[in-house]
Amino acid sequence: MSAAVLEVSDLGASYGGRRILESVSLRVGASEIVTVIGHNGAGKSTLLKSVFNLIPWRSGAIRLQGRDILGLAPDRILAAGIAYVPQSRSVFPKLTVDENLRMGGYLLSDKALLAARIEKVRQLFPVLAERAHQLAGTLSGGEQRMLEIARALLMDPKLVMLDEPSIGLAPRMVEAVFQTVGMLRNQGKAVLMVEQNVRKALAASDRAYVMELGEIRLEDAAPALIGDPRVARLYMGRR
Ligand SMILES: Nc1ncnc2c1ncn2[C@@H]1O[C@H](COP(=O)(O)OP(=O)(O)O)[C@@H](O)[C@H]1O
Ligand SMILES: [Mg+2]
Repeated sequence: MSAAVLEVSDLGASYGGRRILESVSLRVGASEIVTVIGHNGAGKSTLLKSVFNLIPWRSGAIRLQGRDILGLAPDRILAAGIAYVPQSRSVFPKLTVDENLRMGGYLLSDKALLAARIEKVRQLFPVLAERAHQLAGTLSGGEQRMLEIARALLMDPKLVMLDEPSIGLAPRMVEAVFQTVGMLRNQGKAVLMVEQNVRKALAASDRAYVMELGEIRLEDAAPALIGDPRVARLYMGRR
């Protein structure tokens, strides 16, 4: 087993008095793609928000490469090495593609470093280089998703968290997004994503967890979960 990039132990999370996550434990190793699958309302988005300190009521431990990050503010978590792409669209529509990318590096004071990182990202995402001066709001849904993922790389994160990256995209773009997730791994990133497109997400993953009602129910290598009859029945519409 590779060293853990992210280790979540016994995480609980609540909105006000309502308990949403119950004793969630999971790990993401170096250059590993880990997916959490689960039905709508299972708590997948809450899990990613909890890691990024966007939920006020949390308990347990969250470690990034062994360092406890539970109390850090989101911008400190970003600086420490976790990037987060939320479920809802998050590009700045009235800014150009390049300006959006620069926003991803707003914490960098070294402008030469920022320029070098933008250049690297342009090489990884040629479509964004072609559209550098186009307003982000005029991109297709899939291209906006690519921009969100590209922007997440500007702080050179160790871990990229993606909340339903394929949701609402045309089939061809769904493929492109999962290929991009594989590319992140090739770039040495660890990935934690949550998805409802179970079949495609598992096919693109190394390991996966199944979440139900705020708890982890199953954990296994992704190919094993694809073949698991419980997963097939509950999440892939097979009987
Ligand atoms: N801001 C919020 N305030 C109160 N309850 C919320 C809030 N966001 C989500 N919830 C509740 O938390 C549960 C888990 O939601 P969520 O994490 O979004 O699930 P998923 O991403 O798996 O669909 C749901 O019951 C949802 O209604
Ligand atoms: Mg969600």
